[in-house]
Amino acid sequence: MLMSLEEPNELEMLRKDVAQVFPAMLAFPINLPWTTFHKGLKARKRIENILAKIINERRRVIEYSNEHDLLQFLLSGEQSSDGPLLPSLTDKQIHDNILTLIIAGQETTANAITWMVKYLDENQDVQETLRDEQLKIKETSRASSLTVDDLNKMSYASKLVKESLRMASIVPWFPRVALEDCELEGFKIRKGWVINIDAKAMHLDPSVYQDPTRFHPPRFHELSKPYSFLAFGTGVRTCLGMNLAKYMMLEFLHRLITTYRWESMDSDLINFGKVGTFLKIEKRMPSSSSSLSNFFF
Ligand code: HEM
Repeated sequence: MLMSLEEPNELEMLRKDVAQVFPAMLAFPINLPWTTFHKGLKARKRIENILAKIINERRRVIEYSNEHDLLQFLLSGEQSSDGPLLPSLTDKQIHDNILTLIIAGQETTANAITWMVKYLDENQDVQETLRDEQLKIKETSRASSLTVDDLNKMSYASKLVKESLRMASIVPWFPRVALEDCELEGFKIRKGWVINIDAKAMHLDPSVYQDPTRFHPPRFHELSKPYSFLAFGTGVRTCLGMNLAKYMMLEFLHRLITTYRWESMDSDLINFGKVGTFLKIEKRMPSSSSSLSNFFF
């Protein structure tokens, strides 16, 4: 999807490095050898080197390459009858665009899916309702893979995705710089101060969500209060990949629930935060699902 990377060693290195950059973005910016921030900077440098190599190699064969990925699009520019639609980009601009998409899109979506699987394991009633909905869609779907129409029918699954994102708050807070002096509910904020929008606190606030620690997708049958759902941020910097992420999560849910039964083997939340979750998985019927991580890179 981004640059058709298939070499297993490079994929694995990239996966590990991206996993180090993500926590560094939310860590205290103290650049000492043992800090999360420092390790993130180092990992970012390694990713930059891999990207530079890939961009270089592709540029050399651009005329003969028929890859349909983002890298190809950024290197060759989309043509219209009046000429190129995009001005040509420098290697640095291409590299920054791809890096942004990898960092903003890969780890976030993978984390969100992992939490969603855990919540489903802990809430068998939710799992059964989801399975009913998804098996109906599978039976009535005419295409061999899911269509946008099928995704639009996933009313319960969409609420489940939203509830998982609320409970897990994958991006727990995001910083903003105050452009002018202002006052918020009696608190004076000075121009230039960095303030954090605490999405997690909002998502778990009982005055905003009733019984906030309960995993309950139907809560989204009703409209949420304005600015109460901040999983993808809000305003002009709202997540650019929001719809892609939702569709990836829905597609994953559909494949998982119509194909497997599973049980989480590690209920320890501390381990879970560090290494993800291990599943004991049992196949129910054949599936054509593919690896999401390969799909992304
Ligand atoms: C479940 C998955 C995801 C979550 C929870 C998530 C969350 C967020 C949040 C909270 C922000 C706003 C940060 C801020 O306001 O400072 C953001 C921005 C962004 N996201 Fe996502 N994201 C996800 C998936 C993706 C994907 C799949 C892509 C692209 C393929 C992506 C691309 C971006 C970009 C480019 C921005 C920056 C937008 C800007 O500053 O204008 N995200 N994301």
